[in-house]
Amino acid sequence: MAKKDEEQKAGGIVEVNPKPEKGLASKAIDLLEKLVIKLMYDTSKPHHWLAGNFAPVQNETPPCKNLHVIGFLPECMNGEFVRVGPNPKFAPVAGYHWFDGDGMVHGIRIKDGKATYVSRYIRTSRLKQEEYFGGSKFMKLGDLKGFFGLLMANLQMLRAKFKVLDASYGAGTGSTSLIYHHGKLLALSELDKPYVLKVLEDGDLQTLGMLDYDKRLDHSFTAHPKVDPFTGEMFTFGYSQSPTYITYRVISKDGFMHDPVPITISDPIIMHDFAITENYAIFMDLPLYIKPKEMVTANKLIFTFDTSKKAYFGILPRYAKNELLIKWFELPNCFIFHNANAWEEKDEVVLITCRLENPDLDKTNGIVEEKLENFIFGGLKLENFANELYEMRFNMKTGLASQRKLSASAVDFPKINESHTSRKSSVCVVDAKTMSADPVAIVELPYRVPYGFHAFFVTEEQLREQAEL
Ligand SMILES: [Fe+2]
Repeated sequence: MAKKDEEQKAGGIVEVNPKPEKGLASKAIDLLEKLVIKLMYDTSKPHHWLAGNFAPVQNETPPCKNLHVIGFLPECMNGEFVRVGPNPKFAPVAGYHWFDGDGMVHGIRIKDGKATYVSRYIRTSRLKQEEYFGGSKFMKLGDLKGFFGLLMANLQMLRAKFKVLDASYGAGTGSTSLIYHHGKLLALSELDKPYVLKVLEDGDLQTLGMLDYDKRLDHSFTAHPKVDPFTGEMFTFGYSQSPTYITYRVISKDGFMHDPVPITISDPIIMHDFAITENYAIFMDLPLYIKPKEMVTANKLIFTFDTSKKAYFGILPRYAKNELLIKWFELPNCFIFHNANAWEEKDEVVLITCRLENPDLDKTNGIVEEKLENFIFGGLKLENFANELYEMRFNMKTGLASQRKLSASAVDFPKINESHTSRKSSVCVVDAKTMSADPVAIVELPYRVPYGFHAFFVTEEQLREQAEL
């Protein structure tokens, strides 16, 4: 406890300083792992998630200045465009999934018409410990299939039990998404707490530590929290495989995390995103489960989707101190990774979302081709799915829900103008003559950037604000 107190910095940033151990236990578990892999894993299987432009880049890039710019970078673009994605530092010992890679941020610092490129790892507890060992030591989602998956999960538990790995700072990669709140750029992965990054004036990116909101945060934190542009508050949640399954939190404009609000659902689920409106928070109880027993008995992936269940949407007044006022709505079975936005219209709450029907989560075989139509998401070939843009309406008076399709497939990873989060966007009338296909500027990058997940733009104002902290 005293150790943690010392590490607690102002603003709830905890210095991440894990203490893994190399000793006899470490060597014994490594040997056991080698044996399990030799007997049960086909090492000749290609790693699709490491092929082509999924392959990691070998090194970080310190700020690389004065890139060649074709065209003109306007002054309103001063700031840094940052995109995060997985970039495994060490080769996997067996399986590997796209979600397993160490988070790396690629940034383009734009200032006064000039562009700088930088790439930096998020200095997570996981990365620091694997650097200490000089190799891959943490369990991977890509290994969690069949009986082999059970053994690999147990090896991870052994490493934690014998203190080979230090589990006190979680095992997150920070590779999923980025958000800016209360003077801090946060790198997020939904199984862990946020990591705080600092954007330096020259564009460089520095990991300051892990954010626990002065010890008020003790559960995982979604990769898709929402910042209300009108109030400056951030709304978030975490999900867990043991009760409480869903915990909702409100973080004030000045960075104070309010008390947890437990949300009761019948079974533990995977909930990647949620939504807010001016007055409500919207939770999605959709039947995607983590089922270790079925993984072993049916020799399948640990993720299971149940097509027999309905989709439930829970709408709670967003400042509620408990879940007493939550209203649950029912719609046909579906899964949703990402919502686009939500707002209120009279008695109705409107959710614009990327709806996925009947996902077959075991379709992980086959070669990943680098074509958009074959793009793989979450271990799933999109050709097996039809992510469609939907409008869902929840009537708070009658308790009835309805939905309608807005687009053909495949639509996901939506991005809106964040100044319209939680409010209805205005209709833009655009002169089609100015919708030029020619970009205003092209910045030539000095290095390859692997495929990644979500991106964010840190404005010059935000950059200055966080530099003062
Ligand atoms: Fe996401």
